[in-house]
Amino acid sequence: MYYPEHIIETIRERSDIVALISEYTTLTKKGNSYTGLCPFHNEKTPSFSVSEEKQLYYCFGCGAGGNTVTFLMQKENMTFPEAIKYLAERENIELDELALSQDEIQKNQKRQRLLNVIKEAAKFFYFSLRDTKNEEIMHYLIERNVSIEMIKQFGLGYSPSDYNILYKYLQEKGYDDDTLMESGLFLKSKKGGFIYDRFASRLIFPIFDVSKKVIAFGGRVTDGSMPKYLNSPENILFNKSYTLYGLNFAKATSSNYYILVEGYMDVIAMHQAGFTQTIASLGTAFTSSHAKLLKRYTKEVVIMYDSDSAGINATLRAIPILRNEGIKVRVLQLKSGKDPDEYLKKYGKEHLMELIKGAKADIWFEISRFELKYDLKIPEQKVMFLQEVAGRLSEIPSTIEQAIYIDEICDTYQIESSAFKAEVNNNYKKIKHIYSTKDSQAHPKGNRQAVSTEVIFLSTIYHYPHIVKQVKQYITPDMFEGDLLKDLAKEIFKAAAEHNEINMMYFTARYPESTEQNIISHIMMHKDERYEEQTILHKMVLENIKRLKGNYLGKKMNETKDAIEKQNLLFQKKALDKLYIDFING
Ligand code: UTP
Ligand code: MN
Repeated sequence: MYYPEHIIETIRERSDIVALISEYTTLTKKGNSYTGLCPFHNEKTPSFSVSEEKQLYYCFGCGAGGNTVTFLMQKENMTFPEAIKYLAERENIELDELALSQDEIQKNQKRQRLLNVIKEAAKFFYFSLRDTKNEEIMHYLIERNVSIEMIKQFGLGYSPSDYNILYKYLQEKGYDDDTLMESGLFLKSKKGGFIYDRFASRLIFPIFDVSKKVIAFGGRVTDGSMPKYLNSPENILFNKSYTLYGLNFAKATSSNYYILVEGYMDVIAMHQAGFTQTIASLGTAFTSSHAKLLKRYTKEVVIMYDSDSAGINATLRAIPILRNEGIKVRVLQLKSGKDPDEYLKKYGKEHLMELIKGAKADIWFEISRFELKYDLKIPEQKVMFLQEVAGRLSEIPSTIEQAIYIDEICDTYQIESSAFKAEVNNNYKKIKHIYSTKDSQAHPKGNRQAVSTEVIFLSTIYHYPHIVKQVKQYITPDMFEGDLLKDLAKEIFKAAAEHNEINMMYFTARYPESTEQNIISHIMMHKDERYEEQTILHKMVLENIKRLKGNYLGKKMNETKDAIEKQNLLFQKKALDKLYIDFING
């Protein structure tokens, strides 16, 4: 279910954040806001605060923050639409009463038309594969050990080689050109402008969404030509970052972990071997959106990517993404055989089952990669290696988990454990310092997100608006990274100059994602009292002006090809390095 923006706004406007959160923790009024024990982490002294006026919450201890919707998403594991529905029911708002806008109705109709075309195409491909004219494709699949059951279950098909046979077929069925082009199934030749089938001569893998509707296709050549795979382009139905191949089947299993592989053929081979909890991202890197999607179904993932260097790098990138969503990660690196598909063919499923059961936690995989960079026989290098390991360990939020790894590492590398523990703790303090929490007792537990220096800077400007006058002389909103921060900077600068509050409604509607709301609430709720002291505030502001503007000028210098412009930027950069601001006399 999809709700238009005005409905979301109405619900947010009418829901009472204090009442909602009071169901989870006792809140007491303190000045402008309410405080209590944080419902997201264990603590003895309250560091959680709720603002009725801003309709936001924020925890100074663990960094959790957001609005009513994100609260339910984080606390009750609801999806965005589920949270909206829940709040609507709570506040007695009839969702049906708030009629869909004309825009939304049109969008829904378009979505439905596209779904129909794609379903029709999937059927066409399915029957083409069974056509005796194309039996060499069926042979290809049999040759590759794909069972008839899997061909059926995954709806595999074939797009015939006649260049526009599907186009003609769908046209005859009465679909208009706009819908057909939008479906991603066709391409238009640049010269003649004639339309042809994107997937012609390819084996077809339909891509399903979680509710088992076909939303896109992948197509593989069977003759070794390039590119090996093609995927449908993204459109209103298909977003690669929100789609995982095999998830519609995996979600029906009761396994307590999922297996993440690289490709279509791996997913199919794994399902055929009985590993029905296997999934893959589609011709794209694994993203945090994928991890968020997975989090709804499982708490643990075993990564089993290809054993080549691309697979290893992809594994190293996927680990923190999964961990950040609170998903436990284990890694299985196949030592022989390029990918799971080949491995299964060579060694069989029992053997693979043993390996999966024995797959070790992500940290060991990372450590084994660090180890390759150093020669541990040389003492200095061993020190650097262990420092790198300590740095990694300090990022683990659970101290129990940390302690277990520390023991094992000290054993393996023959080092004295108290020294190593001290090193880990040192790193931990450094990390905590970056988060700059004022409450030294609060231990960040769970999946805290690193707060960027830009966020801290914006927060400081927001809470100490009198400095905006000086900041504005050097900094413009577009110097900040990403749309959200640029937007926030613009509003904060404006509000500070006009002694106004910033328009929260705009930000809640425009940036609904939990991560975005977390940033917004950090900025608006996290007032760092250390900056009450003007000299400290001035130092912080000057440092940030230098860094932010420095980065900006650096980026400009890299971009420009004009020598004079480059010179000019270089001068500005030099002047910036020497910059001194007289905050007192302006
Ligand atoms: P692989 O080359 O490992 O393919 O690419 P595979 O899935 O093992 O297939 P077989 O065994 O060679 O038949 C892994 C995934 O990367 C994407 C596809 O999603 C593929 O499944 N990919 C690969 C592309 O999108 N385009 C390409 O040209 C190649
Ligand atoms: Mn393969």
